[in-house]
Amino acid sequence: MRARREVVARLQARVDAERARLAAAGGGGRRRAAGGMLAAMVAARDPETGQGLTDQQLTDNLLGLLVAGHDTTASTLSVVMFYLDQHPEALAALREEQAAVVAAHGPALTPAAMDAMVWATAVVREAWRLRPVVPISGRQALKDVRVGEYVLPAGQPAWVALAHIQRNDPRWRDAAGNYDAAAFNPARWLTPEGQPQGAQLVFGAGKRGCIGAALATAELRTFLAVLARSYAFELDKASLSWAEAPFPVARADCASFSTL
Ligand code: HEM
Repeated sequence: MRARREVVARLQARVDAERARLAAAGGGGRRRAAGGMLAAMVAARDPETGQGLTDQQLTDNLLGLLVAGHDTTASTLSVVMFYLDQHPEALAALREEQAAVVAAHGPALTPAAMDAMVWATAVVREAWRLRPVVPISGRQALKDVRVGEYVLPAGQPAWVALAHIQRNDPRWRDAAGNYDAAAFNPARWLTPEGQPQGAQLVFGAGKRGCIGAALATAELRTFLAVLARSYAFELDKASLSWAEAPFPVARADCASFSTL
């Protein structure tokens, strides 16, 4: 709780500074456009009431963005690097893809270059499938809902086990009926089964689905491009530990870098 209070105090200081800057700039839209998410939230007004967000709402939103937007992507990177260390063939394919992307698009990370990073995206999706950083999501039934043979009565809270749904997805059974869902195999995302929108539940779904999915995916592609083009890395296996909670929440906090 003390840590939370300290973080909230720092966020409040940022809110105060932003309010002061906005007031000094006359509250205009130009300041908002230049100032990023915090400036946009401080400047926002309810179109019907003219009310702005309170300090509490602003710091709550910032805290949400800090945790939902930063920690999730950072943890994904740890997990991806763990799997790349364990699967040198996947890392080699990543380096090959980046060489081809640079040859075709130049070194800049343009939208076209990002779209061409098909293997990098498959690697991230496979790491998410096996160790999603958000393993569950909560919902509450507004009315009686039938889910298969069960009925959730109105008002019933429920956890959706995103991690289990992804791991036990029947799409990953091969023609002989073998189930290879536990294997790290990014190529599965290049098959027709891996293509449809919503083929992965890592960002949740529906109206309360993740608002940062596109940003997170772009950040991860960017990181993998830089990593594959310029760095060698190895995990410090001695300090590697996975924390398996009742729902799999995992991170590998141990990587060392050197330039190629
Ligand atoms: C690897 C990266 C990320 C993962 C795996 C992830 C996953 C999720 C999941 C599973 C949810 C719940 C969705 C649902 O219940 O249907 C969620 C919600 C949310 N995410 Fe993300 N997220 C990521 C990155 C981000 C980023 C970069 C941002 C913002 C910059 C962000 C902001 C949010 C917010 C604000 C919500 C709450 C949305 C709401 O309740 O309406 N997330 N995220």
